[in-house]
Amino acid sequence: PNPAFSTRVCRYGAEALREAALLIRAGEPVAVPTETVYGLAADATDSQAVAGIYSAKGRPSFNPLIVHVSDMEMARRLADFSPQAEQLAARFWPGALTMVLPVRADSGLSPLVMAGLPTVALRLPAHPAMRALIRESGRPLAAPSANRSGAISPSRAEHVLASLNGKIRMILDEGPTSEGLESTIAAPEADRIRLLRPGPVTTAMLEEASGLPVITGPDSKTGNAKIEAPGQLESHYAPSKPVRLNALRAEKDEYLIGFGLMPCHLNLSVDADLREAAANLFAALHVADASIQGRIAVAPIPDEGIGTAINDRLRRAAA
Ligand code: TXA
Ligand code: MG
Repeated sequence: PNPAFSTRVCRYGAEALREAALLIRAGEPVAVPTETVYGLAADATDSQAVAGIYSAKGRPSFNPLIVHVSDMEMARRLADFSPQAEQLAARFWPGALTMVLPVRADSGLSPLVMAGLPTVALRLPAHPAMRALIRESGRPLAAPSANRSGAISPSRAEHVLASLNGKIRMILDEGPTSEGLESTIAAPEADRIRLLRPGPVTTAMLEEASGLPVITGPDSKTGNAKIEAPGQLESHYAPSKPVRLNALRAEKDEYLIGFGLMPCHLNLSVDADLREAAANLFAALHVADASIQGRIAVAPIPDEGIGTAINDRLRRAAA
């Protein structure tokens, strides 16, 4: 417990934005919504500020952070864009795609952001609050999901507060996020795209936009799987209770999260709509975790489109 200050939740607006930008410039992390999940943002050019993210989250420092930019000009100052990267940016930015690209020697980014890698993960988000905060503070913002490391990701301001109360000064509240799952992470190569984390931009969308095959797995050149996608740490997004997958009914003491027409405690999408289910997933896990039942069960989710990303998060919630 940190008695030095308490966390303020501020409705997003001109005044809250100005205050948030002042905190960022002073080297403090601030929680801010994006269209995927709430991020814990800090000045990516200031090592002290970036260290503040790691300590507020209790995040291992070998796990690198995503850097958020407000426009292509800022993006090109930080990383080298191949023709494939340009093509994906033109199609999916602003939006829920993060690209892993070679970092420029003169990027000015804190080395802590890359955690020793020669690449940087870049994203140009669509959410007006995050974009305004980048512009107003005049800095690229490093921002992982705004939760304690390893815990369920936050799709609402109250999730951030429950996880980081007393550890950060301010949360910009702009309601529930629209996508509900973290961005897709992809590394574009000359002849293919490596998918490092499935998300709202699906494999089919990447293939259609690039004309290239999308593969999953380690870097071909280095054969190095280690840190490439450490958010792919096996246990992640984890509730405090055991999670059982592919459940068709609740067993004794289970809270059942359903999908499609079925009896359950809470339904991700009665219409079996995968986008709606993605948007509701983390809030459902938060509710299930806070319920009186001792265990959580989740109905089967079709492994297609954004269902792949939902199942990725569920597998790790159950690990
Ligand atoms: O939707 C999102 O992506 C959210 C919002 C806030 O933008 N952010 C987010 O950040 O999910 P985080 O830190 O929870 O996940 C970042 C992931 C981690 O798995 C990290 O290992 C990976 O990005 N990553 C960062 N830099 C990388 C790099 N240079 N190469 C490979 N993976 C990288
Ligand atoms: Mg996270």
